[in-house]
Amino acid sequence: MIQVEGLSKKFGDFTAVDNISFRVDSGEIVGFLGPNGAGKTTTMRILSSYIAPTSGKASVGGFDVVRNSLEVRKRIGYMPESIPFYTEMRVKEYLSFRAKLKGVARKERRNRIAFVSERCRIKEFENKIIGHLSKGQRQRVGLADAIIHNPPILILDEPTIGLDPHQIKQTRELIKELGKDHTVILSTHILPEVGMLCNRVIIIHQGRIAAMDTLSNLVKEQRIKVEIQGPISDIENTLKQIENVKSVSYTTDNLWNIITIELSEVRDIREQVYQKIMENRWIIREFKTERTTLEDIFIKITAREEGTSSAGA
Ligand SMILES: Nc1ncnc2c1ncn2[C@@H]1O[C@H](COP(=O)(O)OP(=O)(O)OP(=O)(O)O)[C@@H](O)[C@H]1O
Ligand SMILES: [Mg+2]
Repeated sequence: MIQVEGLSKKFGDFTAVDNISFRVDSGEIVGFLGPNGAGKTTTMRILSSYIAPTSGKASVGGFDVVRNSLEVRKRIGYMPESIPFYTEMRVKEYLSFRAKLKGVARKERRNRIAFVSERCRIKEFENKIIGHLSKGQRQRVGLADAIIHNPPILILDEPTIGLDPHQIKQTRELIKELGKDHTVILSTHILPEVGMLCNRVIIIHQGRIAAMDTLSNLVKEQRIKVEIQGPISDIENTLKQIENVKSVSYTTDNLWNIITIELSEVRDIREQVYQKIMENRWIIREFKTERTTLEDIFIKITAREEGTSSAGA
């Protein structure tokens, strides 16, 4: 449905998007993650045919984003980071104006507006002037605008930013609902949101794809935490020899060594660890298994190369 190959975008000599490739299949809800300035918005704008890439290719439903931008726009509902509203218009008027601009046939417009008003729950303020709306209400109008021409694909740039907890919940529910019959790419800085909404995650860092996988694959790593007393170099060497142990690190707290054992694959090695501790007569006071969270992955990936820039800026 969406195919991206070797896509780059430069602003002057600054590389904002650096040779990225990925695809999104029909029906997927893909989360775009990455620190500020990673290139998420830039990529989304290219996919929505708002800006042209410097090199590489992107197509939507088989249509090239540069050569067939009209066809691409028909298929994409784009909700930008900051929605450029006509603040003096009334909501209904605005949606009608947008529907016209997006080529919705005159006789269908009224129906489409009623439909999106219902779906995005904007009925109760559809006669209000946009300038008078609350932030969350504007956000919903932005979403209504994105789906007014009934596109199969939604590209939502931080759709829940700045909303109160109720509105965040409502907007997520709406996105989830829309995800049933739309292909969705959304960006967010709220990591738990990804777990709630997305099947797959693309982490962008310094313009490049740093990780791309299903959420369950990304967070399948496990580690074991033990707190033991004993000579740390012996402990370290012994634990490192257990099969599937990737690394052993520790901090100390008085006599206690607080040890983290990272595993190279998901395998339950608790018995072996416990056996080694017993054999060596080390004293133990804590033993637990932890799963990697998306936050761990995100921090690990995006802390890499911190301070250096792929983009030469
Ligand atoms: N029109 C532009 N001219 C110059 N530089 C730009 C332009 N648009 C974006 N950039 C730069 O490209 C980089 C990527 O920006 P982008 O908006 O894609 O980041 P982002 O991942 O969406 O970040 P955020 O999480 O803050 O929204 C940034 O360093 C930004 O300053
Ligand atoms: Mg952005």
